[in-house]
Amino acid sequence: AISRVTGRQILDSRGNPSVEVDVLLADGSTGRAAVPSGASTGANEAVELRDNDPRRFHGKGVSRAVAAVNGEIADAVTGLHAEDQALIDTTMIDLDGTKDKGRLGANAVLGVSLAVVKAAAAAHRQPLYRHVGGVGAHLLPVPMMNIVNGGAHADNPLDFQEFMIAPVGAPTFFEAVRMGSEVFHTLRRQLASAGHNTNVGDEGGFAPGFADADEALRFVVRAIEDSGYRPGTDITICLDPASSEFHHDGAYVYSGEKRTRGVDEHIAYLLDLAGRYPITSIEDGMAENDFAGWRKLTDQAGDRLQLVGDDVFCTDAERLTSGIEGGYANAILVKVNQIGTLTETLRTVETAHRAGYRVVMSHRSGETEDTTIADLAVATGCGQIKTGSLSRSDRTAKYNQLIRIEEELGRSARYAGLR
Ligand code: PGA
Ligand code: ZN
Repeated sequence: AISRVTGRQILDSRGNPSVEVDVLLADGSTGRAAVPSGASTGANEAVELRDNDPRRFHGKGVSRAVAAVNGEIADAVTGLHAEDQALIDTTMIDLDGTKDKGRLGANAVLGVSLAVVKAAAAAHRQPLYRHVGGVGAHLLPVPMMNIVNGGAHADNPLDFQEFMIAPVGAPTFFEAVRMGSEVFHTLRRQLASAGHNTNVGDEGGFAPGFADADEALRFVVRAIEDSGYRPGTDITICLDPASSEFHHDGAYVYSGEKRTRGVDEHIAYLLDLAGRYPITSIEDGMAENDFAGWRKLTDQAGDRLQLVGDDVFCTDAERLTSGIEGGYANAILVKVNQIGTLTETLRTVETAHRAGYRVVMSHRSGETEDTTIADLAVATGCGQIKTGSLSRSDRTAKYNQLIRIEEELGRSARYAGLR
């Protein structure tokens, strides 16, 4: 049973405060989890509680969320069995009482939810991926590695937020990481020799002053080739334009390019890029509230491209169900802090899988050294993870955890590859 719950403020990868929670069980087992934070957040995400006290952390403090962990939540869950994850999560949802978890804070609730499952795994002396996923959990995900950052994650003119490489042709997860790392360093050299800066953005990818997506894609393809890999066969390209960020008054306003594209023009542009480059997946190709646009894009390309809904679904099973019924997207990005509990996260994954939608487990642009999502990717067997570039410990921590899991699984490990 849970005997102690302790919350505290720590720093995330952008240097902003975040919530960390320790859970202690009566048998002495412990679990610790830290909560991530987004920059290009969806409008319908669960709400992270911030202090808004301008004198501390520029208003971004999370002391009220921490107080909720140490007070109301601790009181409500102490004495419950850590294995009763659904009961613990529902208890917190009911205690909060709001639709968006804004009273206690989704950051408070998620911290406890994830610390509880880690303590329960420790009590059974099982790795987290096996405790959550069972003995059949052996599929290592294809990583979507974000090697060029733009949009809200970088200070450059790129309108699209993420240009990712997916080493689908690798034989193992470790080899996928090696291939990604090689392409990353090749790209750095090529950027430097072309006179571009090699500074990195929030997710550890380069953030040069590229003029547009075309220029970024040309560099990425060349980096893949010059590393000795075949674009489209060994390594494919995935985009996250994060279109909600530049959708205004029914149009897509490319401020970096200084031009505006209407819905049809924006779709045509995405499909033009997908035709000219080895792109296999586009996330948030359309804005979160552009449902008609989403349907059009899905009708035109859903049979040949993975179309991932991030902001449009916000990891919410109900919103996903609307998408499945409405015929938009064919995959979902899953971010634990968009919904706020493990139980709801797993329900969303199950809803997706039952409908034949693919699932990509994902970090946030603001991360910590916590590696829970690496284990959840294996536990759910979802086959894909998005956790940033091949630099910065907040990103590589997840890759390193997956390397350890692959090693531990030994001969039963299987790399998802191209499916
Ligand atoms: P965020 O970005 O964590 O800043 O929301 C990630 C994404 O859009 O996928
Ligand atoms: Zn996204």
